[in-house]
Amino acid sequence: MHCIKLYSLINTRKFLILFFLITQINSKFNEKGKQDVVDSHNKIRSQLALGNFVTKRKTKRAAGSNIRKFVWNTTLENSAHSFALTNPSKHSNINDIGENLFWHWSTRPGDFNKYGPQAANSWIQEFHEKYWDSNILTNALFGSGVGHATQMVWADTYQIGCAVTNFKEVHKKTGRPITKICVVCHYWPKGNYLNEPIYLEGSPCSKCESKKCDKNSGLCI
Ligand SMILES: *[C@@H]1O[C@H](CO)[C@@H](O)[C@H](O)[C@H]1NC(C)=O
Repeated sequence: MHCIKLYSLINTRKFLILFFLITQINSKFNEKGKQDVVDSHNKIRSQLALGNFVTKRKTKRAAGSNIRKFVWNTTLENSAHSFALTNPSKHSNINDIGENLFWHWSTRPGDFNKYGPQAANSWIQEFHEKYWDSNILTNALFGSGVGHATQMVWADTYQIGCAVTNFKEVHKKTGRPITKICVVCHYWPKGNYLNEPIYLEGSPCSKCESKKCDKNSGLCI
């Protein structure tokens, strides 16, 4: 009896170690996680397109006429994943791709899929913390620290792929183990061109290049 108990204990430990390794390696979002990331971006883009996006001034931004609906792209997911695995502390500067980064530290990280929407929420916060008074991405606007938010809503961008990784660290003050979570999103075509419009003002979908509109969201498809 004792032996069996001991054996099962060892097995549990093996299983836990294996599970730990798997969670370390398996750093892509599951299907729902991917959809949640796309949805949290499209929700914001739709608010903007329909003229419902409220800024720090408590006023709504003018409706957007050319904002495209996001779709998932596995090439972007893979590049985001490769980069996320390097435990990045700054941007990758991969050519022709937009990139947003998010870090979070937790002693109880839970399901990593939840960090997609959490990252999107933190990026869009920039528009609630800083004034957004120009639809042209001026140096001053970009310099105010809204670059993640402007990439999120950049009208011409319509493909996204993201990944989440986690790294075990030791908390500097408490000396306890802590999990660092890193979310990377890659965007294509990239946005954030200086002195170009973030989006065009006008009634929703009136300037879709495709001439096709998703009526509910007001986004070009
Ligand atoms: C996915 O994104 C890449 C850029 O990384 C782009 O070259 C490719 O055309 C996109 N795939 C599709 C199906 O549009």
